[in-house]
Amino acid sequence: MSETTAGEARTDGRPGAGAELAQSLTEAAARRPRSRDVRNLGHLLPFIRAHWRHAAAAAFFLLFSTGATLSMTAAARLIVDRGFASMEGLNRYFLIGAAVVLVLALATASRFYFITVLGERVVADLRKGVYRHVLTLDASHFLTMRTGEVLSRMTTDVTIIENLVGSSASIALRNILTLVGATVLLAIVSPRLTLFVMLLAPLIIIPMFLFGRRVRALSTRTQDRFAEAVGLAGESLDALETVQAFGREASADRRFGEAVEVAFRTSLKRVRARAGLTAVVITLVFGGVGLLLWAAAHAVVNGAMTPGALIQFVFLSVMAATSVGALGEVWGVVQQAAGAMQRISELLAARPLIAAPTHPTPLPVPARGEVVFEGLTFAYPGRPDLTALHDFNLRVEPGETVALVGPSGAGKSTVFRLLLRFYDPQAGRVLIDGVDLRDADPAEIRARMALVAQDAALFSGSALDNIRFGREDATIEEIHAAARAAEAAGFIEALPEGFDTPLGERAKTLSGGQKQRLAIARSLVRNAPILLLDEATSALDAENELLVQKALENAIGQRTTLVIAHRLATVLRADRIVVMEAGRVVEQGTHAELSRKGGLYARLAKLQFGVEAA
Ligand SMILES: Nc1ncnc2c1ncn2[C@@H]1O[C@H](COP(=O)(O)OP(=O)(O)OP(=O)(O)O)[C@@H](O)[C@H]1O
Ligand SMILES: [Mg+2]
Repeated sequence: MSETTAGEARTDGRPGAGAELAQSLTEAAARRPRSRDVRNLGHLLPFIRAHWRHAAAAAFFLLFSTGATLSMTAAARLIVDRGFASMEGLNRYFLIGAAVVLVLALATASRFYFITVLGERVVADLRKGVYRHVLTLDASHFLTMRTGEVLSRMTTDVTIIENLVGSSASIALRNILTLVGATVLLAIVSPRLTLFVMLLAPLIIIPMFLFGRRVRALSTRTQDRFAEAVGLAGESLDALETVQAFGREASADRRFGEAVEVAFRTSLKRVRARAGLTAVVITLVFGGVGLLLWAAAHAVVNGAMTPGALIQFVFLSVMAATSVGALGEVWGVVQQAAGAMQRISELLAARPLIAAPTHPTPLPVPARGEVVFEGLTFAYPGRPDLTALHDFNLRVEPGETVALVGPSGAGKSTVFRLLLRFYDPQAGRVLIDGVDLRDADPAEIRARMALVAQDAALFSGSALDNIRFGREDATIEEIHAAARAAEAAGFIEALPEGFDTPLGERAKTLSGGQKQRLAIARSLVRNAPILLLDEATSALDAENELLVQKALENAIGQRTTLVIAHRLATVLRADRIVVMEAGRVVEQGTHAELSRKGGLYARLAKLQFGVEAA
């Protein structure tokens, strides 16, 4: 799952959405918290170990290419000291130099290849692993961690790791090796000058480092400011119709303009600091190099050093200095990756609360479709103080249609969530065909149910894809039959490409009633013995309403049906009405009985359905 392709698939012909996404990922990456504890990267080891051959090849070529680079300086020294003596010598040493270059080229290419492939492989495994794991988690995890945060961990954090394993880790290792190797060689070539460099280096590096850190902090702040501006603009553009309807274009413009100006002022600070940094760097670096050359030239004049050794010394110092600079740059990436890996491994360590028992009790075959709730008491993990269900009892016979009715927040949808075993109750139990949900495999339980949720989530893809979501092995004929039964075939066939028409993200090209009928078709194709309908609260126009009602009628058929009803027509069709209030069953009966009683139902019916009690 590459987020680039996913992004491109969703652009409605708009170019560059993938690039946009990549851009926003990089920006987001800059704002992810870092971790000083680099040990977090240890969590990557199992992923690397799985491809140890690649890792070994990468390490070998890393050592080899660094060795070759360092030996180039010796070749330069030989050319200067001995090669200039005769034409023949000159040719020979240049040939040696050329051979080293060739080896270096091959070794560097191989190092790059093996390290990059290793990195890409590890990241691909990590992405798949994280997504597969997240799919197993239950709702309680998403209460403590926002979906956006989970997504960030799956995309931004993994991208940070990709950056590390694919390039920064190799840069860091190579530069550490170069630094160590160059320092050893420097000490061999001229111990005295090396000591001189050691004393000089901190004077150059420390001010550069401190100044550089300030510039980086300023540039993150600029990005933050700009992200705020973009956030504001995006919000207004998403709801452009609302903005225009309220005539708030000017205020949106002003807010964005102000945010952009703030971002500009922050960038100005950054640019000034950066200009200063450039001056400081040039002064320090050239000053330092000049000082070193001056000392080295003295050594050559005094005869303490050959000109070739001077050349080698200068090359080595440049290599060592470059390595230090490169290490300073990647250190930030390493810390960032440590933070990212910490968040990813936290996610990987999360265990679902709802899991299949080791020896699940199989549900009886054929299914009868009997549902029993016994003394359920339940509070959501995030709201232990609020009992969503309170000693809830209900028995639904096979084939029966029960309508759940009650004020908003009564716990109707919660009953469904417990039946689907998204949560376990604190007391009581739920039985399907006589089997306690906790003893059965959740996958088997859910296979017996078809759900039409309150705001049925549809997916990008065609109408066909969305219906087939209900059952993967459904044939085209079954899909068409389901669409017909759900009164959806008419509008689907009228789409430009019929069943194959792309519906856009969350099927946003469809009207509310069409979405509901598509969701009903999706649950029908499942052909499950128990149907769960959470009727949408949003109002539909009369025609759509009629179609949805017909679709529901076909769907309910002979199945056991639990329907959370918001409409009179649905209630009238039910065999029994169960009235809920504050997590309890308060009344049961038919519409006529309950209306006559003049209790909560009669009041609700009057308010919600506009029906006077008989
Ligand atoms: N995920 C959740 N975490 C915490 N509390 C929740 C959660 N979902 C629902 N609740 C609370 O549980 C209670 C019952 O909610 P539920 O969704 O079952 O109501 P409902 O009867 O379906 O209402 P509506 O008719 O508005 O859909 C409400 O007080 C609600 O605030
Ligand atoms: Mg609800």
